[in-house]
Amino acid sequence: MKKFKTIMTMAVTSLFTVAVLAGCGGGQGGADQQQPAQGQQPTAEKKKLILATSADYPPYEYHDTSSGKDEIVGFDIDIANYIANELGFEFEVKDMDFNGLLPALQAGRADFVMAGMTPKPERLQNADFSVIYYDAKNSIVAKKGSNLTKWEDLAGKKVAVQLGSIQEGDAKEMAKTVQGMEIKSLNKIGEIIQELKSGRVDAAIIEDTVAKGYTQSNPDIEFNTIPSEGPSGSAVAFPKGSKYVEDFNKVIKKMQENGELEKLVKKWFEK
Ligand code: ARG
Repeated sequence: MKKFKTIMTMAVTSLFTVAVLAGCGGGQGGADQQQPAQGQQPTAEKKKLILATSADYPPYEYHDTSSGKDEIVGFDIDIANYIANELGFEFEVKDMDFNGLLPALQAGRADFVMAGMTPKPERLQNADFSVIYYDAKNSIVAKKGSNLTKWEDLAGKKVAVQLGSIQEGDAKEMAKTVQGMEIKSLNKIGEIIQELKSGRVDAAIIEDTVAKGYTQSNPDIEFNTIPSEGPSGSAVAFPKGSKYVEDFNKVIKKMQENGELEKLVKKWFEK
C-alpha cells in the first residue's frame, strides 16, 4: 500500500494529523471558526472546514493507534485530504455517533460529512450530497456457520443495526414481513460486533465493504451479501444549499478520471 502514497499525500496527511491532534484539545473549532488551532502553523489564507464523521467504519474511517497516537484514518479521510488539497482548505475531523452527523450539519457544527454515508431520498430533505464515490451492498453478519443468506433467514432472530443508518431503516422495513425478527439499534459498529460475538444478537446488517474487514479480524464471524434496493454507496453530505457541493463534485470527478480514486480503493479495500 505504501507504493501508492505520493509525496503529496504524505504531506497532506501530516498536515491533517496536526489538525486532528489540535482538535482533540476540545473546545476549539466550530464550523465557522477559522483561527488556527494551538500548535499549528498560522495559515491565515487557508479556510478551515469541519469534517464530521463516525470513525467506527473501517476502512472508510477508524481510529488507528498503531503509531502510539490516536489518529482517524481511512478511505474517506484520504479522499477528504485530496479534495482539501485541490480546493485549498484545511479541515479538522470531528468524531461522533453516526446518528448525530446530519443534525451536526444542520446545526452548523460541521461543513461536510464523510462517513460512508448513502444519499437515500429521506436524507435529501436535510442535506445536499455529492455524487456517489464508492458503492457497497448490505450484508448479513453472523457467527461462523450460521449461514444466514437472505432476509427470510432472519425470522425469529435478534438483529443488530447501527442507529440512524440505512441498514436500520431497511431492517425495520423487513421486520414488517419477516416473522419475529427483532431489531436492536446500537451507536457503534464495534458494539454490534461485540453483541454478535457474545451471542446477545444473532445477526447484524452491515455493508459488505465493512463486514469484510471485521470478519477478517474476527475469524468467528462470517458475512453474506444480500441484494439491496434503493440507493447504495457513499457520498459526501453538506448542509442544504452549501456552496461546496459543485467544487467537491469536480474534484471527485477528477479523481475518477485520473485514477486517484482507484488507487485509494486499492489501498483501503483490496488488502
Ligand atoms: N451507508 C450507511 C448509511 O448511510 C451506513 C454508514 C455508516 N457509517 C459509519 N461511519 N458508521 O446509513
